[in-house]
Amino acid sequence: MKVRKPSDSMTRMTEMVLPNDTNILGNLMGGRLMHFMDIATAIAAGRHSSRVVVTASVDSVEFRSPVRLGEVITLIARVTRAFNSSMEVLVDVFAENPMTGQRRHCNTAFFTFVAVDQAGNPLPVNQLQPENDFEQVLFEGALKRRELRLAMAAERTATLPDDMHAEFC
Ligand SMILES: CC(C)(COP(=O)(O)OP(=O)(O)OC[C@H]1O[C@@H](n2cnc3c(N)ncnc32)[C@H](O)[C@@H]1OP(=O)(O)O)[C@@H](O)C(=O)NCCC(=O)NCCS
Repeated sequence: MKVRKPSDSMTRMTEMVLPNDTNILGNLMGGRLMHFMDIATAIAAGRHSSRVVVTASVDSVEFRSPVRLGEVITLIARVTRAFNSSMEVLVDVFAENPMTGQRRHCNTAFFTFVAVDQAGNPLPVNQLQPENDFEQVLFEGALKRRELRLAMAAERTATLPDDMHAEFC
C-alpha cells in the first residue's frame, strides 16, 4: 500500500444548473445535487485508492443556500482519511452567478466509500498523509466521525421493527 496526500486525489467538478435539474421553484433539486456530490467524491476516493469504490454512507449533509437555475456549481471533493478498506471524503459545493461572478458556499457533506473487488468484497486502501493544518484537523476528526456513523448504522439496523425485519431482511 502507498501513502498519498489529499492533493493527489482532490477533485474539482463544475456543472451548470439546467431546467431538468430544478424543482418548480427553479431551484436545484437536492437529489440532483446529491448525484453530483456522489460522483465528485467517488472520483476522489477512486483516485486515492486506485480501486473500484462503492458509497457506504453519506452524513452531515447541509443545504445552506438554494441554487438557482442557470447558476454554475463547483464541487470540491477531498479525501480526509483512509482506514482499512474505507475512506472518508468531504465535499464542498459553491454556487456562482455567472452574470455577476458572485460565489457562495451552499452545501457540504461527508461521504464514506469502500474499495471493493469485482465480487464486492472490501479491499485495503492506500493511507493518507495530511500536509497542512486544515487537512490535519479533518484527519483527526475523521476518527470520531467514523465511530459515530458506525454506531448510528448499527443502532438503525438493531431498531428495525419485527414486521419490517421479517418481511424485508
Ligand atoms: C459498503 C459495503 C461494501 C461494506 O461491506 P460489509 O460487508 O459491511 O463490509 P465490512 O463490515 O467488512 O466493512 C467494510 C468497511 O465498510 C465500512 N462500513 C460498513 N458500513 C458502513 C457505514 N454504514 N458507514 C460507513 N462505513 C461503513 C466499515 O467500517 C469497513 O471499513 P474499514 O475496512 O475501513 O474498517 C457493503 O455494505 C455494500 O456493498 N453496500 C452497498 C454499496 C452500494 O451499493 N453503494 C451504492 C452504489 S455505489
